[in-house]
Amino acid sequence: MGTIRACIFDLDGVVVDTAKYHYLAWKRLAQEMGFDFTPEDNEKLKGVSRMDSLSILLNIGGIKISEEEKHQLAEKKNNWYKEYIDTMTPEEVLPGVVNFFEELKLNHIKMALGSASKNAQSILEKTNLSHWFDAIIDGTKTQEAKPNPEVFLLGARELGIEPKHCAVFEDAEAGIQAALNANMYCIGVGSPQVLSKAHQVIPGLFDMNMAKLNV
Ligand code: BG6
Ligand code: MG
Repeated sequence: MGTIRACIFDLDGVVVDTAKYHYLAWKRLAQEMGFDFTPEDNEKLKGVSRMDSLSILLNIGGIKISEEEKHQLAEKKNNWYKEYIDTMTPEEVLPGVVNFFEELKLNHIKMALGSASKNAQSILEKTNLSHWFDAIIDGTKTQEAKPNPEVFLLGARELGIEPKHCAVFEDAEAGIQAALNANMYCIGVGSPQVLSKAHQVIPGLFDMNMAKLNV
């Protein structure tokens, strides 16, 4: 691996814990349709696009509906989700994130966001994080879902840094695979069992620093 000149961060599960809000909104939808949606079920939706998440949910409930109805349900869930993220504050930024961002800035490392979420911009604004990023690639700018590398390659291109000089921080298996497909250095955030394909795994950004970036 060459020297790292840029870091690309997934949002949900790496920088902020929005999984709990996705969970509440999906659970509400499931309950409205007459079945339960558990925290274990929610694990299956990590890093998965909104429409794919809905398909998984409908499978759990054994529900078959038209494409049009699917879009209505996805919109309903997203409206509830937006109500939750509207209440977010900078206090919800995960431990160590801002410290590590400061260290990167001091070392002139470029920073990008690489998220599947179409709500990324409003989450960054609510948590006062937008100003850290030199490029923001989110679900409104991509055609392909992770594990396709599109989101990270677009980030590298917008930063003007070659993929081999980029490191990606990801909490989802599909995201790790996307980073590997982009030929980037990949740091898993979470459990080493789940993220075994990553080049290294850390429990959270509180456990990250420049020395660990250039191994
Ligand atoms: C990912 C989350 O970052 O974004 C998924 O891990 C989510 O759970 C996906 O489904 C899409 O997010 P949104 O905000 O566009 O529905
Ligand atoms: Mg994530």
